[in-house]
Amino acid sequence: MALLPILRYPDPRLHTRAAPVREVDDVIRKLIADMAETMYEAPGIGLAATQVDVHLRVVVIDVSEDKTGLLALINPEIISRAGEQVCEEGCLSVPGIYDKVARAEKVRVRALNQQGETFELDTEGLLAVCVQHELDHLDGKVFVEYLSQLKQTRIKGKLAKKARITA
Ligand code: NI
Repeated sequence: MALLPILRYPDPRLHTRAAPVREVDDVIRKLIADMAETMYEAPGIGLAATQVDVHLRVVVIDVSEDKTGLLALINPEIISRAGEQVCEEGCLSVPGIYDKVARAEKVRVRALNQQGETFELDTEGLLAVCVQHELDHLDGKVFVEYLSQLKQTRIKGKLAKKARITA
């Protein structure tokens, strides 16, 4: 396995729309293993392939406290949503920034697993937030885009300053 570099907002590559995976093969399984390792190392609870500059529809999520709940979603789609919740979100591509975003409370997702089989999963609460956040990445959307223009400008300034310091 290998740690993958994570793109930082406002990198324009984060706005790429990811392509569907055509075949779930060893290349995809290796990508998932590397993404999971990268997510755990960060540490984070979700990572989309977009964030590691691979523009395929793959995400990994683990909202468990002991790293035992790895969920890999290939070509995921939300097939139903219900309710609303407001949760404070963060993102490995937007380090140090947290803000409230309104999302559906429950979502049902359909995806392929690592054997290429279709499955459906009902999610709610934090897991539902994470699914919605990661699927947005596959469409080129970063959570800060739900915030006001003023906040987005401030965040860009803050991250640019940080990049200069750590470069
Ligand atoms: Ni994110």
